[in-house]
Amino acid sequence: MHTKEEYIAVFDSGVGGISVLRELIKQMPGENYLYFGDSANAPYGNRPTDEVRELTEQAVEKMRPRGIKALVVACNTATSAAVRVLREMYPDLIVVGIEPALKLAADRFPNGRVGVMATKVTLREEKLNYLVSRFPDVQVERISAPGLVELVEAGKVSGPEVENLLKNILAPYVGKLDALVLGCTHYPFVAKTVSKILGQETELFDGGEGTARHTRHLLENAGLINDGKGSVVLENSSGSQELLKLSETLLYLQEEDL
Ligand code: DGL
Repeated sequence: MHTKEEYIAVFDSGVGGISVLRELIKQMPGENYLYFGDSANAPYGNRPTDEVRELTEQAVEKMRPRGIKALVVACNTATSAAVRVLREMYPDLIVVGIEPALKLAADRFPNGRVGVMATKVTLREEKLNYLVSRFPDVQVERISAPGLVELVEAGKVSGPEVENLLKNILAPYVGKLDALVLGCTHYPFVAKTVSKILGQETELFDGGEGTARHTRHLLENAGLINDGKGSVVLENSSGSQELLKLSETLLYLQEEDL
């Protein structure tokens, strides 16, 4: 039996999942959160799928003994590779996985041209193909962004390096997209620069808010919402103080700085 006081575990390959944790806290401030970033093994997005699955399982095994009532896989890459297995492994646990917010973009632009920017794993896995097949009238461009996760992990979320990398990646799409889906949880932290490059005519979407809403809904249905004081524990496999500091900085960034 689970209790309300148990943690909501939030997992990502690194600091990206903090963008989802922010949404969770916004919607459920009374919860106890345990965030684990596996920066020692990041990025996941260039690895074979089996490796991503194994790393994800190991991380969840580390979090479980702490007492968790729900697991939010705040990583599109890990969700693509492992969410189905995790649900099978832990049938008594609420397991939510983030996926690219294509539905939001398709609802807004039913016949539009929509970019999905994500890691190699997310772009090649079956989960995305299935998602894309649900919106046959949307023209989807799959955009990979090599090097971007590494910059965010290094604490670089703005400045010339981020801008140059994004300019190269997005150059073929300037003026051509109705929407861009940020399909990796690290990307919302560079959304400002993405918007600067693509301009106002391209609307940005990410799955953080929907993932938090879905988690809240499942907890409500299970009678497991906590209206307590709320707390956040931030942990990182790298053991680096800098990464913990970065996690904290990203968690408490002002909305207007995003
Ligand atoms: N943040 C992860 C995601 O949402 C991926 C980062 C990585 O490649 O490790 O896909």
